[in-house]
Amino acid sequence: MAQPKQVAHLILPTWAGEFDLRVFEGTSGDVYLLFVYGEIGDGQDLLVRLHSACLTGDAFGSLRCDCGPQLHLAMRQIVAEGRGALVYAAGHEGRGVGLVAKLQAYMLQDEGHDTVDANRRLGLPIDGRDYREAVHILRAAGVRSSRVLTNNPAKASALEREGVRVERLVPLQTALHLRNRRYAQTKQERLGHRAPGGAPLIDGSLAGDGQAFDATALLGEVGSPVDRPYVVLKYAQTLDGRIAARSGDSKWISGTQERRVSHALRAASDAVLVGAGTAVADDPLLTVRMVPGASPIRVVLDSTLRVPLDAQVFGPDAATVILTSERSSPDRRTELRLRGVKVEVVREAPDGIDLAAGLARLRSLGIRCLLVEGGSRVITSALREQLADRVVVAVAPLLLGKGTDAVGDLGASLVRDGLRLVNRTVHQLGPDLVVAGDLDWARG
Ligand SMILES: NC(=O)c1ccc[n+]([C@@H]2O[C@H](COP(=O)([O-])OP(=O)(O)OC[C@H]3O[C@@H](n4cnc5c(N)ncnc54)[C@H](OP(=O)(O)O)[C@@H]3O)[C@@H](O)[C@H]2O)c1
Repeated sequence: MAQPKQVAHLILPTWAGEFDLRVFEGTSGDVYLLFVYGEIGDGQDLLVRLHSACLTGDAFGSLRCDCGPQLHLAMRQIVAEGRGALVYAAGHEGRGVGLVAKLQAYMLQDEGHDTVDANRRLGLPIDGRDYREAVHILRAAGVRSSRVLTNNPAKASALEREGVRVERLVPLQTALHLRNRRYAQTKQERLGHRAPGGAPLIDGSLAGDGQAFDATALLGEVGSPVDRPYVVLKYAQTLDGRIAARSGDSKWISGTQERRVSHALRAASDAVLVGAGTAVADDPLLTVRMVPGASPIRVVLDSTLRVPLDAQVFGPDAATVILTSERSSPDRRTELRLRGVKVEVVREAPDGIDLAAGLARLRSLGIRCLLVEGGSRVITSALREQLADRVVVAVAPLLLGKGTDAVGDLGASLVRDGLRLVNRTVHQLGPDLVVAGDLDWARG
């Protein structure tokens, strides 16, 4: 096989750091980008990633796959190690079938076929990638032995076959999204990958710090109501039912392990919602930081646009939608739009925004799974109006006495009038308990 030809060599500064970049053209016509960080030196025991291009995932943050978070994680790991190489195979789009065929296969996946069957139906290979040129480029650069950042044992075999020793596989596990959970499952069950999202969180015994876990089961059987998203209420309370102290302080009621799970739930959802009270009191970022994964769309309910313009929730780290009423100032709406915030004017109700109308608007924006992270008023509205499907509550071993109640008046005067969860699970996460369950409105 003829050797890929080097056609460019430059320094590429990236969000993760400065890489030495060599560009190659293979005889197949494929283009390869070799990113090297630090010195290859003797070429031994190098952290290596073979990344197949995924325009939709890498560049646009598509949630159909886990490629974007994987690429980010690989770059971070290589930079953190101080030495490593990443080959970006531009011709390996869609496991080698190309961009157009990949998108056509997505159309079949929307009809219910998994990624393997969709390719079969289109007469495409299930995996058409040929790693020989990519490995050749690594070898020519001096890489002799590697620790491979991948969940895919086929990549390790290809390296070995072409003369780069593999010391071990370093799993590249990221927090799954509800929209790529099935894809990840297919990769594991039908393509032999290691669990792309990590081990399922079954009894709450989280793996050690920094290790991946799949928390998506906590979201339950995600339904698809037609007029609103599937809604999960998620909050952390003390043993005596408070979500904040008397001063409004709520940082942090639960421990690190529980908060990592919270971030994984954000990463799994289309959007995360809070009321103006929380946006003002806590100034939360509402992004995914404690696990590798994509940040959801942030949603704020704010009838009069009282949340300050410099609030973190309006920052550039993720997209934001604000649901407001006719009462808010048109000038303020314009200022927010200029900051890249999507402003939606919806009907009002006694509690603020008419929640049913607000949720319908979110559904029309394509939001199918919504994580409501409080505070108390929003949680209470959602329960009172029967606009929630599930509750995930962390209970911390802490007593605060007077403070903000997690849930306000729901009109229950007898215990039997209370909302009892069904399909419950209980998990212990460090010092905290997490109770999850569905709300069964039909049973009352
Ligand atoms: N421990 C936890 O997990 C956790 C989580 C979140 C918050 N918190 C704590 O909760 C406290 C804030 O509680 P909160 O009740 O003030 O905050 P919130 O529920 O986040 O916000 C309430 C505000 O949202 C606006 N809103 C608009 N439409 C609404 C609707 N349909 N239903 C309810 N509210 C609507 C209203 O303001 P407008 O009328 O101005 O629109 C309302 O005053 C803070 O101390 C925070 O630290 C704790």
